[in-house]
Amino acid sequence: MKQFLLIVMTFGLLLQTSLVFADQKTTGAELIGGDFNLTDHTGKRVTLKSYSGKYLLVFFGFSHCPGVCPLGLRTIVSSLTQVGSLANEIQPIFISVDPARDTQEVLAKYVKSFGSLLVGLRGSEKELAEVVGRYRAYYQKLSVPKDQPKESYLMDHSPIIYLMNKSGKYISHFSSAEGAKKISEKIKLAITVP
Ligand code: NI
Repeated sequence: MKQFLLIVMTFGLLLQTSLVFADQKTTGAELIGGDFNLTDHTGKRVTLKSYSGKYLLVFFGFSHCPGVCPLGLRTIVSSLTQVGSLANEIQPIFISVDPARDTQEVLAKYVKSFGSLLVGLRGSEKELAEVVGRYRAYYQKLSVPKDQPKESYLMDHSPIIYLMNKSGKYISHFSSAEGAKKISEKIKLAITVP
């Protein structure tokens, strides 16, 4: 089962990466990202405009994720501590692909476990599908083995960290496998060199 999951996730990553790169080659990065209508972990309704004037680091995931999400979020937080004062201009955002279990309360507790900077966003299935589509991301509920409780399901999802500019337009993306140090260097380069 673990191997099967790994294969599914690897395939997803390859598919995701090829889609992102295909976009860059053909029609351009303007196809990634855009406006959204979601609710933050304090219960406030937010759109892209709510974060204007900030670069965004966007990551899709779910709080019950055993590995990819904790690693991704730790990497984001750690890379922000390494960019120095530039961090004041960057808003890290975690968008839940599992709104059924990631209630506002669960989400609030989860994002706070990664420090005070991270914002958690959630939405209805429709709102989620919209933002995921705009980011060319993906998510899928995986089936639960028969001997496991129904609510113990996992979600397959994009493992990518998106860097968006102050207008919410795509600049670049990273994988947490690159490590916080390298990502922080790439962020500095992307933000300080036009
Ligand atoms: Ni995850």
